This record gives sequence, structure tokens and C-alpha cells, in this order.
Amino acid sequence: MKGDQLIHKLNQRIPINEIFEEIDDKSLFILTILNCQENLLTALYLISIVNPYYSKCFLSHLFNGFENLIYELQTDDLEFDERFYDFYISILSAKEGNPTDYDIIKYNLITCTSDNPNGHHTLNESQENPYITIRECPRLIGGLGTTGLRTWEASCFLSNFLINPKNHSFVTNIFNNQTVLEIGSGTSLVSLTLYKNFSSLIKKVIITDGDSSLLDNIVHGNLSLNDIQLPNDKIQVQRLLWNDPDDFSSISDFDVIIGSDLTYDRSIIPDLINLLKKSLNTNKQRFALISASVRNIETTLFFENLLTSNNLSFKIIEKCLNPSTNSYINNSTKLWFKKGTFEVRIYKIYSSKCSL
Ligand SMILES: C[S@@+](CC[C@H](N)C(=O)[O-])C[C@H]1O[C@@H](n2cnc3c(N)ncnc32)[C@H](O)[C@@H]1O
Repeated sequence: MKGDQLIHKLNQRIPINEIFEEIDDKSLFILTILNCQENLLTALYLISIVNPYYSKCFLSHLFNGFENLIYELQTDDLEFDERFYDFYISILSAKEGNPTDYDIIKYNLITCTSDNPNGHHTLNESQENPYITIRECPRLIGGLGTTGLRTWEASCFLSNFLINPKNHSFVTNIFNNQTVLEIGSGTSLVSLTLYKNFSSLIKKVIITDGDSSLLDNIVHGNLSLNDIQLPNDKIQVQRLLWNDPDDFSSISDFDVIIGSDLTYDRSIIPDLINLLKKSLNTNKQRFALISASVRNIETTLFFENLLTSNNLSFKIIEKCLNPSTNSYINNSTKLWFKKGTFEVRIYKIYSSKCSL
């Protein structure tokens, strides 16, 4: 693991025990730490502003498991920075927060122009700030009547797919000058990934969810955390409850639908299918890209069968049976997936009458 990868993991709040379990060469790990001390200290300090307990856990694992090795491996040129101890003492009283506490998570999802010619980030810019920053409750499965208070694995998977250089020509073709409608956006990671990486390619992104409080978090939190100001010709945020005809008719026009983790419960699937049917069974050659976690194969089959019985065709354009085993090294992912992450699929959905 390189130093920047360790910092990306911490910024994405990978469970500390998983970070330490993955270490197979302890000396190499400590040398990595010794070589990135300044950046690591800064990252841990910034994390501690919102989540001091997480920074504390990292340092206590480090000191408990590796203190002797640190002193063995340090040299006159590469001494361990004593400020780590001062910092650790300053956060020693930190307690684990409640699942309803907000955290600020950073997802390593900004590409540079050499990976993505339609992007607008130079290599330096993307190295300096490679993150989409999201205010969320990462440990909250559901609360306040919504499941959208945290970012789900399916949206990480779809975001990662969009910026993967191997999918560049596909992404360029389908989003070129298109208005993209994200439905059930939750924290809006996918829309922000699209906007931040492809703003010169796309026409506009419309971020929607049925839950207005989530939209407030996007407008007053996540947009500004990512240096996006409203009004903005390329970003719109508005409510779209799938079964509300007024919400639907207020969305003037769009070309492509995107969405992630919208098939987790049988009870919400019929409204989703109706919305897709209304949107895709038109004269326009529209389609949807929906990523889905396969938590329960029967629910997934229910979704697929309902698509088919409503004259909607689908192709699974990408899937991963065990996302946590994806390797960062071979460039297949820039994000980490926790152990036990369910299979994720990306569906391309279109009207059966059209030949996409
Ligand atoms: C599991 S979360 C996924 C959020 C986000 N796409 C992600 O993957 O992180 C499902 C989202 O769909 C929204 N949702 C569920 N049913 C909906 C409906 N009938 N109309 C609009 N949004 C809905 C929820 O508010 C929630 O934000």
C-alpha cells in the first residue's frame, strides 16, 4: 500500500481493522508511514475535526501494534514525527459517535485530463484534491423516513465505473451534450462524480430524490463542499417522488436517467418501474443506467421481471460478484469496498421498442 492509498482509505473511512488486517508486510507498511508523515498527520487532523474517534482508532492500532517497529526502522534522515503523540493525546478522550452523527467523507473520484480528456482537472489539480466530498451519516442504514442519508456501495460502484479510463469511450458517447436525470440520488455522489469529471461533456445534471431533507443537504452541504455554487446552468436540484405526476411534469427535459441502489426493497420497485416506463417508452431514444446491489436474488429477479413485463429491456453492462476483492493496483477501482459487500450490477435499461 502506498502512502496516498492509505490516506484515500482513511478519507473514505474504511474500517480501521480492515486497514490493519490487509497489511502483509509490516516493515513496508511502517516505511510507507515514515515516508508520508506530513500528509498523514494533516489527513488525520482534518478527519478529527468531524470524526476524532476514527483518527484516534487509527493511531491506537498503529502504536499498539507497531511502536517498536517504528523505532527500529526510523533513521536519522527519516525520524518518526513526535507530533503524532501530541495529536493522539489531544484526541484521546474521543468517543464513538452516534449513527445519526454526520461525517464528511471524501471519495477518490476526480480524474485528471490524461485519464479523461473531457475533464478539466490537470494532473496537479487532481493530485492536490482528488476527492468528491460528501456530508453523510455513513453508519445509518435508514432514518427520518429515508435510506438516503448515507452513500451506498452501488453508487460508489457506478461512480467508479464512470471514471474508469477503460469505460471512457462508452461514457463519452452516452453523455455527450446530454441532460442527465439522477433519481433517488441520496447524497448525490454519482451526479457529483459526473459533473466534476465531465462538466465540459454533459449539458446538465438534474439531481432528484423524493425526500426533501436530502435535497437540503445537497443544496446547503454537498454542492458547496465541492465548490459548486447555485444557480448553475449545469446543475439543478429538485424533488422527484416517483409516483407524483406533478413532480415528474415539472422536470422539463432530460436524455439519460441514472440511479443507484433503488431496488433494495420490493415495495418501492413498482413506482420505480412506472417512472422508467413513463420516461423511456417515448419517441426519444432514452435509456437508464441503474446500479443495484444484489442483497436478495428474489428481489433482483422481481425487478428484472417487472422491467420485462412493462416492455423495458435491459442489459447488465458491468457486474462484480465480490467488490471488496477488486484491486486498486490494476486500476479496476479507485474506491474501496468493505468486506462482505454484496454483488453489484449496472443495468442499461431501454424501451423494448428501441434498438440501443
Ligand atoms: C438506498 S438509497 C440510495 C441513495 C443513493 N442513490 C446511493 O446509492 O447512495 C435509496 C434512495 O431512493 C430514494 N427513494 C426511495 N423511494 C423513492 C421514491 N418513491 N421516490 C423518490 N425517491 C425515492 C430514497 O429517498 C433514497 O435516497
